[in-house]
Amino acid sequence: MTNKNIVWHEHKVDKAARAEHMQQKPLVIWFTGLSGSGKSTLANLLEQKLKNHGRYTYLLDGDNVRHGLCGDLGFSSKDRVENIRRISEVSKLFADAGLIVLTAFISPFRDDRNYCRNLLEENEFVEVFIDTPIDICEQRDPKGLYHKARQGEIKDFTGIDSPYEAPVNPEIHLQYANESAEQAVETLFSELVAKGFVKA
Ligand code: ADX
Repeated sequence: MTNKNIVWHEHKVDKAARAEHMQQKPLVIWFTGLSGSGKSTLANLLEQKLKNHGRYTYLLDGDNVRHGLCGDLGFSSKDRVENIRRISEVSKLFADAGLIVLTAFISPFRDDRNYCRNLLEENEFVEVFIDTPIDICEQRDPKGLYHKARQGEIKDFTGIDSPYEAPVNPEIHLQYANESAEQAVETLFSELVAKGFVKA
């Protein structure tokens, strides 16, 4: 709850001016999916592609943000809610700065993803569901965390003993099981262009 004695200050250089300066439409491209689904890999490749198209971007990644801004948070539901609340607010600020923001967090709860959506303007939030079946995530197990979770060494692991609420109506639903990361990003980029979120 914001303190009623704190008053919002309007600045002369505003979001529209910054976006105009950068010649782009601010956007938050919100990746969601299980650990090991490929969110970070795909967000990374997409960011490079956007940069090559002259766009100004910033990638917020779960593992990195948890080293700093969210370093005090764990994986209880309460901490995950707070994690996504902070990321949502930062995403809003970066979009306000005129940037195309990419976020790669499990973000397992629908309400939290909608929290970010509701902070932004119409057509400024693109939910990208990286839909990789859990058995494939578990086979990939890039950090060995599924193995540890199965051994009971990690508690509250998403998909094992902590829930994942899949998006009901995401702007983009990407099946990512057998294709290469490069192919998946081509598909993603084409959909972003076709749906008018980014310019080709
Ligand atoms: S979120 O649920 O709060 O959105 P976030 O994306 O920040 O999660 O962090 C997930 C990353 O933390 C995973 O990719 C994995 O590397 C690591 N991790 C460590 N412990 C867990 C856990 N219990 N559940 C899920 N991911 C975990």
